[in-house]
Order: sequence, then C-alpha cells, then structure tokens
Amino acid sequence: MRVLEIDHPLVAHKLTVLRDATTRSSVFRQLADELVTLLAYEATRNVAVAPVEITTPVSPMTGTKLTNPKPMVVPILRAGLGMLHGLTTLLPTAEVGFLGMVRNEETLEVTTYANRLPDDLTGRQCFVLDPMLATGHTLIASVNYLHERGARDITCVTLLSAPEGLKNLDDAIDDEVDLTVVTAAIDERLNEKSYIVPGLGDAGDRLFGVV
Ligand code: URA
Repeated sequence: MRVLEIDHPLVAHKLTVLRDATTRSSVFRQLADELVTLLAYEATRNVAVAPVEITTPVSPMTGTKLTNPKPMVVPILRAGLGMLHGLTTLLPTAEVGFLGMVRNEETLEVTTYANRLPDDLTGRQCFVLDPMLATGHTLIASVNYLHERGARDITCVTLLSAPEGLKNLDDAIDDEVDLTVVTAAIDERLNEKSYIVPGLGDAGDRLFGVV
C-alpha cells in the first residue's frame, strides 16, 4: 500500500480551518470541497490515459486523453458525499457509484446498508472517498467490496488518517490490490471512542449537521 500525505501550504491552511471547532458547517463544506480538489490532483496522478491524434490551429500533434473504461468515484455515505464535488471537479467524466456503510459504535463492526455500483469493476480505476480513516474498518469493507467485483486499482482519498487505521488497512487488503491512500494529514492516534486525535470531530456531523 502506498500512502501519500500531501505536504502543501494550501492543504495545511484549509485543514487547520476545518479542524477548528468554531468553523461553521457552511464554511466547513466549502473548505472540504476545495481541499479534496487539491488532494484529487495527487490522487489522479496515475489515472489511465492514452495518446490521441489531434490538430491544433497550427499543426497536427499527438496529445493525451483519459481512456475508457471511465474511472469510478465511490463516496462512502454519508460523510464521503461531502467530498464528491471536489473530486469530480477534476474528473468530470468519471462515473459515480455509492456505498452506504455504517459502523456500530459499540462493536465497531461495519455493515453495508446501500450499494449502487456495477457488478463488474474489472479494469476500472476506483477512487473511494471517506473523510476520516480512523480504525480503517469502513475502508477495509469498502475496498474488499470493490475487489470482490474485480477492481484491482483502488485509491482512497481521506482528509485525515490515523496510524492505527493505515496499519489495519495495509494488513487487511489482499496484495493483489494496487492500493493507494491520499490524505491531507496523518494524525497522532485514536482516542478510546475511536475518534482521530487531534482530528476534526465527526466529519459527517460537521458537514451535514447532527441528524
Ligand atoms: N469518524 C469521524 O467522523 N471522526 C473521527 O475522528 C473518526 C471517525
């Protein structure tokens, strides 16, 4: 597994405002969107492209374009939805599938409650969006789900990651999967409630309110 922690002053600035407990939902949503677009630039570094012949106003040339099959972007409901626009801003031709995962706060077990994805993901590059890689259980279940459908090239984009979750993910995922995690920061640790420390709190609540 490759882990890319993006070291950029704009990423650090936006993340600091997101972490601040006084930042209200509307600003949080806007900044999360901008931050994901910056992360998407790195996350798409190996997106599949092919040479194409075009003609500029001056001369013919060989250019480069995204190839088929189109990349698949998979926001994990609910908090991953807050990252969708930021990623599709850079990859507007991607298709979007959805996975709804819920974690039992006591057992930490993850179950799938919604799924809108093609049955066959063979050859598709997948970009999984989940803001907080905490224990890693949600991403492990999501990546396994995509792997079972044939995906082999999977990039997870997170705002924050905990060292414990990164290790769990690395240990759990089959080596056959070419797995990359792109994150704005790797934080210190998890607390006793499996929240990331220092973190930013509950990403879903901060994006969408407590419902
Ligand atoms: N999910 C969150 O939203 N925040 C955390 O700190 C951990 C998991």
